[in-house]
Amino acid sequence: MSPPATPADDQGLALHHVGVRFGGLVALDDVSLRVPPGRVVGVIGPNGAGKTTLFNVVCGFVRPTEGSLTLDGRPFRPRPHDLTRLGIARTLQGVGLFAGLTVLENVVAGASHTARAGFAAALFGLPRSDRDESRLRARALNLLAELGIDKHADAAPGTLPYAVRKRVALARALIARPRLLLLDEP
Ligand SMILES: Nc1ncnc2c1ncn2[C@@H]1O[C@H](COP(=O)(O)OP(=O)(O)OP(=O)(O)O)[C@@H](O)[C@H]1O
Ligand SMILES: [Mg+2]
Repeated sequence: MSPPATPADDQGLALHHVGVRFGGLVALDDVSLRVPPGRVVGVIGPNGAGKTTLFNVVCGFVRPTEGSLTLDGRPFRPRPHDLTRLGIARTLQGVGLFAGLTVLENVVAGASHTARAGFAAALFGLPRSDRDESRLRARALNLLAELGIDKHADAAPGTLPYAVRKRVALARALIARPRLLLLDEP
């Protein structure tokens, strides 16, 4: 393996003096933090402290008014549609599952960018191959089993208790095999 291009302490995600203002409201003020590989970092604070806003900055849903982000030491301007490719997955505060899909389909949906459809297929929006599809479904079922909720695979999310739905959301984030997992109010 070749040595990393950047010093080890640059690895992972970092926020540098990030500020977010919504009009006159200061949601984040001078937030700096580092999430090195292999580390669990908790963000705590009362209601309205800005935790979800912080997650939204990392996901590209909210642009910081000040400050910057780096990923492995390189400038990082997150955009929501790039996250899976960059190995970043999140769960939302609340649950945010697709109501019209089964539990299993919701989990498979989390791997939308990982199927090896090939560049041309992806470019022209061709459907995944049957083999990709069944491999993904098997992996989704394994994850549901790991989380103890595989018996709900064919259920509609709306029929399930909140705690089970939170686990479904977790499985949907894990199926993409993220290197950075963001959990808002897990
Ligand atoms: N899109 C937005 N537009 C305007 N104000 C917002 C927006 N998003 C968040 N805020 C405000 O920013 C502040 C921080 O909110 P945020 O949701 O990040 O807090 P939180 O720490 O996640 O709170 P909670 O524990 O209730 O989830 C709050 O005052 C909130 O009303
Ligand atoms: Mg929140």
